[in-house]
Amino acid sequence: MVLQAIRYSRGQLEILDQLKLPHAEEYDHIYSSTDAWHAIKEMRTRGAPAIAIVAALALAVELENMKLSSVAEEVKVFIVEKLNYLVTSRPTAVNLADAARKLKKVVEDATGSEGASGGMVREAYVKAAETMLVDDVSDNENIGKHGADWIVKNTEAGKKGQVSMLTHCNTGSLATAGYGTALGVIRSLHSKRALKHAFCSETRPYNQGSRLTAFELVHDQIPATLITDSMAAALLRLKGPAENIAAVVVGADRVAANGDTANKIGTYSLAIIAKHHGVKFLVAAPRTTIDLGTHSGEDIVIEERSGKEVTLVKGPRHDGVSLDLNVVETVSIAANGIGVWNPAFDITPAKLIDGIITEVGVVEKDSDGVFHLDAVFKIDGPKVK
Ligand code: MRU
Repeated sequence: MVLQAIRYSRGQLEILDQLKLPHAEEYDHIYSSTDAWHAIKEMRTRGAPAIAIVAALALAVELENMKLSSVAEEVKVFIVEKLNYLVTSRPTAVNLADAARKLKKVVEDATGSEGASGGMVREAYVKAAETMLVDDVSDNENIGKHGADWIVKNTEAGKKGQVSMLTHCNTGSLATAGYGTALGVIRSLHSKRALKHAFCSETRPYNQGSRLTAFELVHDQIPATLITDSMAAALLRLKGPAENIAAVVVGADRVAANGDTANKIGTYSLAIIAKHHGVKFLVAAPRTTIDLGTHSGEDIVIEERSGKEVTLVKGPRHDGVSLDLNVVETVSIAANGIGVWNPAFDITPAKLIDGIITEVGVVEKDSDGVFHLDAVFKIDGPKVK
């Protein structure tokens, strides 16, 4: 069975509640943009591409089920207001702002068209949001293919036939419309029998690695091992048959024009560790994550989340032998009264990144160490511009 974070049919949207994973697979109905805003803020749905698609589809569902004005301009104003609101849910991932910008353009064009009505504007919006859902899956499959081919060609282990990989956070089916970005690269390596072993880091404090990536790896029966974030440097020293890491591959929440990359907290440390050990460090992201309007990492707003995510841990009761899924407990794991800093993301400087894997190919730096990311937008443009 294919893992699905988002279930959509016209007029209906459900999201897999990622706070309950890996122990329970429960879907929540999303009826409106307000529902989506809360689901994104509370991280019941998360991951840069998934956030954008859930937001876009939630508004599509709301529009399908409401009594709509017949006046095109009124429907346009309603849609633009809702999109502006949705964008405030989480600040760092650019995919949501990018989707909102494109959807606004779609409704503006529809409103300006000959004989435009409210129904026509709605139809144009809903179709564009649905196209984004479909495109994300095919983009991820292409990211997987380009990334796997690059790793096979550009690493010693790849040239010999099989690679071991390390990834961070969750970038799989659960963080996207399907297949995944960095985890899609690992899936692609596995399906072409070029993967020896995958390692995933726990990803404190929200544990997207141990809860979600580990869940996906087990689900797909990919040979994999979980480590805590603090074990990564020790892992990269190892040269065992499975432990010889050929490349670290991560996703992104926003890639600036110069290649600086915002991604889950801990990514920057991994890039430094990879550089120290001469291991390739790759970012896998669709073009919707590349923001040419952001000059460098300095210009990216990093979301800070509640300190409780660091001091408290929530999960089903475990008595040391077995799990009791009926009892969810929250336990404190820090000294009462301690101050906490909890940035959700960090910035990895472009100089630590060997390649940016997109759906149209892998971008490498030129001989001066500069990424030319504008080039990827010159190759077959996205369907919703
Ligand atoms: O806070 P999250 O769980 O939304 O953060 C997710 C990440 O940082 C992912 O690595 C990134 O969004 C890429 S998802 C394909």
